Amino acid sequence: MSTAPRPEPGRDGVAVRLRDATIGYGDVPIVCGADLTVRHGEAVAVLGSNGSGKTTLARGLLGLATVLDGAVEVLGAPVGRLRERDRVGYVPQRHTVSGAVPATVREVVSVGRLPRLGLVRRLGRADRAAVAEAVAAVGLADRISDPVASLSGGQQRRVLVARALAAQPDLLIMDEPTAGVDAASQEALAGVLAGVSAAGTTLLVVTHESGPLAGVLTRAVVVDHGRIDYDGPLAEAGPPGGDCHHPAEDAPTGYRVDQLRVTTDGGL
Ligand SMILES: Nc1ncnc2c1ncn2[C@@H]1O[C@H](COP(=O)(O)OP(=O)(O)O)[C@@H](O)[C@H]1O
Ligand SMILES: [Mg+2]
Repeated sequence: MSTAPRPEPGRDGVAVRLRDATIGYGDVPIVCGADLTVRHGEAVAVLGSNGSGKTTLARGLLGLATVLDGAVEVLGAPVGRLRERDRVGYVPQRHTVSGAVPATVREVVSVGRLPRLGLVRRLGRADRAAVAEAVAAVGLADRISDPVASLSGGQQRRVLVARALAAQPDLLIMDEPTAGVDAASQEALAGVLAGVSAAGTTLLVVTHESGPLAGVLTRAVVVDHGRIDYDGPLAEAGPPGGDCHHPAEDAPTGYRVDQLRVTTDGGL
């Protein structure tokens, strides 16, 4: 299968290594003192309540948030110094493909090949094959020529996954891939990720509910208030599905426990 990763993913077979890492924006630390080693081929869930720092952690691995202290290495290189950036795939935390330009599924997924092309090179046969394969992998082969805007939200999320897959990354980072996605698409996504993982790609999936992907992700890292407070088997990370929460956990970003207004579960 052409989605198989290239050899030598990183020194010592380590895909991601954080050493006492503090990650934030500007000079504001959000994730603090994080230690984490993800070996190549692992499938890891990053769990935690809203605002705990999951997205910041993921963005820190992509050079999109600032490493303020400690060390962050991705595929054997300090973050930001990785030459082959196409070896890291990213599906950002966004529900749909937005944009004013009406693009087809094929066009959006083809963007995933761009880092692999030379400056003026057009997509070659291998590129087109990789695009078609990625679209088929997410179950949208019959929609490849359709405008993305005509797809459901869940299908659009799958298009973004296909775009990342088309680059055939060694490390695939996804932020809330199942959020706002219908049950059928969640199931399809779980199947896709199972295949990608079986092919050897390292997966790091940020989610606040691991249920839909529990069969794929085996290890969990739980972020709480910017700190990693659990790292171990997903099955032991909390009640089934990782759906453990007390009322404050669902509070919107910026919620403070000392605020006077207290809302019950149903109101959140
Ligand atoms: N671009 C940013 N600049 C400053 N602070 C941010 C930015 N993005 C997120 N934050 C803050 O970082 C904290 C963690 O956010 P985030 O990493 O998005 O959490 P999660 O993904 O777990 O919901 C929140 O308090 C949020 O307000
Ligand atoms: Mg987030």
